Amino acid sequence: METEVSTHPNTSFVIDSSSSRATKMWGRRLGSLLEGGELLALIGELGVGKTCFIKGIALGLNLREEDILSPTFTMIQEHRGRLPLFHIDLYRLDRVGLDDLGLREYLFSESIAAVEWFERLQEASAIDRLSVKISYTGANSRRIEFTAVGERYVSLLMRLRSRSA
Ligand SMILES: Nc1ncnc2c1ncn2[C@@H]1O[C@H](COP(=O)(O)OP(=O)(O)OP(=O)(O)O)[C@@H](O)[C@H]1O
Ligand SMILES: [Mg+2]
Repeated sequence: METEVSTHPNTSFVIDSSSSRATKMWGRRLGSLLEGGELLALIGELGVGKTCFIKGIALGLNLREEDILSPTFTMIQEHRGRLPLFHIDLYRLDRVGLDDLGLREYLFSESIAAVEWFERLQEASAIDRLSVKISYTGANSRRIEFTAVGERYVSLLMRLRSRSA
């Protein structure tokens, strides 16, 4: 699976965001393209903008961004928009597997799963997903790298990229 990624020309692209508004706008673009059943893996250091991006996804699903909170203490929050959205945060979990907390059901459903700290999941590297990796490049600037792992995410990534042209 990982090998396929590195050899496929359309599996990754990078954008620069200069404000939380821009990050949210990219989330909204992605949210508006979702059809149900997608897994979105948010990766990046503390406070980099993962929740901010998910607020944008929520907007693209016709949810209110105010409803998206930092779910650090609740771990899993469900929202009912154009499609159901599970907002999951694995930060507090040191070692977590698909068979913990019913995660398998949340991650592989007809709903959307947006998972902060996805890399904490033991099986992470083996799971098809659209990965959204955010890094600091300045006080209000971020680099966002979108990577598709798995065929359905390659086409989603291409649609997201074509909207950026
Ligand atoms: N370009 C940018 N993109 C996203 N957020 C930005 C940007 N510039 C500044 N910010 C600010 O960075 C913070 C991002 O917070 P957010 O809660 O989204 O991070 P997080 O990655 O979810 O953190 P945590 O690891 O605690 O869950 C917000 O206060 C936001 O306004
Ligand atoms: Mg967060």
